[in-house]
Amino acid sequence: MVTIKILGFAGSLRRGSFNKAILRAAREELPADAELEIFDLEGIPPYNQDLDDNMPGRVKEFKQKIRSADAILIASPEYNYSIPGVLKNAIDWASRPPGDNSWDGKPVAVMGASIGMLGGARAQYHLRQVFVYVNMFPVNRPEVMVPFVQDKVDENGNITDEKTRHKVRELLESLISWTRRLKGM
Ligand SMILES: Cc1cc2nc3c(=O)[nH]c(=O)nc-3n(C[C@H](O)[C@H](O)[C@H](O)COP(=O)(O)O)c2cc1C
Repeated sequence: MVTIKILGFAGSLRRGSFNKAILRAAREELPADAELEIFDLEGIPPYNQDLDDNMPGRVKEFKQKIRSADAILIASPEYNYSIPGVLKNAIDWASRPPGDNSWDGKPVAVMGASIGMLGGARAQYHLRQVFVYVNMFPVNRPEVMVPFVQDKVDENGNITDEKTRHKVRELLESLISWTRRLKGM
């Protein structure tokens, strides 16, 4: 069976990010028929349409990684009931220039962690709306929203909660089978 290449990134730049922690958990829970590369959105500047024909190096690198991935995994917090600016900004860059939308046709899975009780649900539904326009194909289930994440990590910030790790693994399995279906892989 062909290995599915997944590109994962977090919608948080924070060093101790809980969303980076669930991405690390995803790498540990990854099924054997897939690989996961984690990209850090650090260094992607605010979007400027003047640069569509001369994109910053970090953006070019990001676009190239998206292109060579079979599927995308996003782990994002919710900021003020919506998508964090750094994440939306990165999505906007990679959707440009016209005719070179790197997201086009990509299968995608979303998960999120929050210190609140809804686990970032509202940001996930806003993200799903964005997927319509950039033409990404999201996995519907399971929905992975990790509430009160601060109670689910060890002293190094790694996810110890078994239920969370299990959900993350289920999401990966779902993303892999969805990708195989969509791409005939
Ligand atoms: C600007 C800002 C807005 C936030 N808004 C929300 C929110 O709407 N809902 C929520 O559950 N948590 C909110 N939080 C708290 C985040 O859940 C918490 O900071 C979380 O740790 C961020 O994810 P990270 O650990 O991956 O950086 C907000 C945090 C910040 C900094």
